[in-house]
Amino acid sequence: MAATIIDGKELSKTKRSELAVEVEQIKSRGLLPKLVVILVGDNPASVSYIRGKQKAAEEIGVGFKLEHFPESLSENELLDVIESYNNNNEYHGILVQLPLPGHINETAVVEKISPLKDVDGFHPINIGRMMTGQDTFLPCTPAGIVEMIKSVGVEIAGKNVVVVGRSNIVGKPVGQLLLNEHATVTYCHSKTKDLTSYTKEADILVAAVGRANFIKGNQIKPGAVVIDVGVNRLDTGKLVGDVAFDEAKEVASFLTPVPGGVGPMTITMLAHNTVQSAKNSLE
Ligand code: GUN
Repeated sequence: MAATIIDGKELSKTKRSELAVEVEQIKSRGLLPKLVVILVGDNPASVSYIRGKQKAAEEIGVGFKLEHFPESLSENELLDVIESYNNNNEYHGILVQLPLPGHINETAVVEKISPLKDVDGFHPINIGRMMTGQDTFLPCTPAGIVEMIKSVGVEIAGKNVVVVGRSNIVGKPVGQLLLNEHATVTYCHSKTKDLTSYTKEADILVAAVGRANFIKGNQIKPGAVVIDVGVNRLDTGKLVGDVAFDEAKEVASFLTPVPGGVGPMTITMLAHNTVQSAKNSLE
């Protein structure tokens, strides 16, 4: 039987309308939740992602400001900009769009953002809190993935989860969040021997490798939940995930599409974190 598609756009729509209600309540207490996105340079993918973030913010009534600097901005200048927003009570979320130009140290930048405004959930303090299961800003893509799995009523506790990919932004934290939900988690990556022997055992398979159609249908356990985090543009211009969608559809029980799957939920979780940060400042 063909897999049920987990529609990230639909789920986002529901979550965003819930967030819009929360924003109204916060506004009625005299506060406007506000996000600043800092972009250095003109990376076309970054510009496109930021457009999506702005649209989501506008949809739910969150204030949005883009700080766009030329590629030549120095690291110290960027750190000063971040410091000014750390100290600006009007802003509840600060996001520095990655990747940064090569002359800027990303670690120094991420660590400069106040953990209280780190709506990406990338600051080591927030990562530590996530690892120890504390209430904190969760990284947006991993948090969106957990929401998507829960939205279709799949129990995570006790399941075999295989994460293919070990990036700091997606692979590592999504495994951690699913471990926090009591799954048994295995990480696979480019050095893994006999990848299929792992993926075939996955009740929940998360593909986050950044290679078009990398996971084939015959590498998936029948009935598995398959989450495709990849966003890969083919030479034809078509956008595809890390999972061969048409093959996976015949094997999986639930499957996320690309586009329209994890992407919209990532942005929705960013809006969620910004609203949460504004609420925290009221307490
Ligand atoms: N670049 C690609 N994805 C992300 C993200 O989630 N946050 C930031 N800050 N930069 C990114």
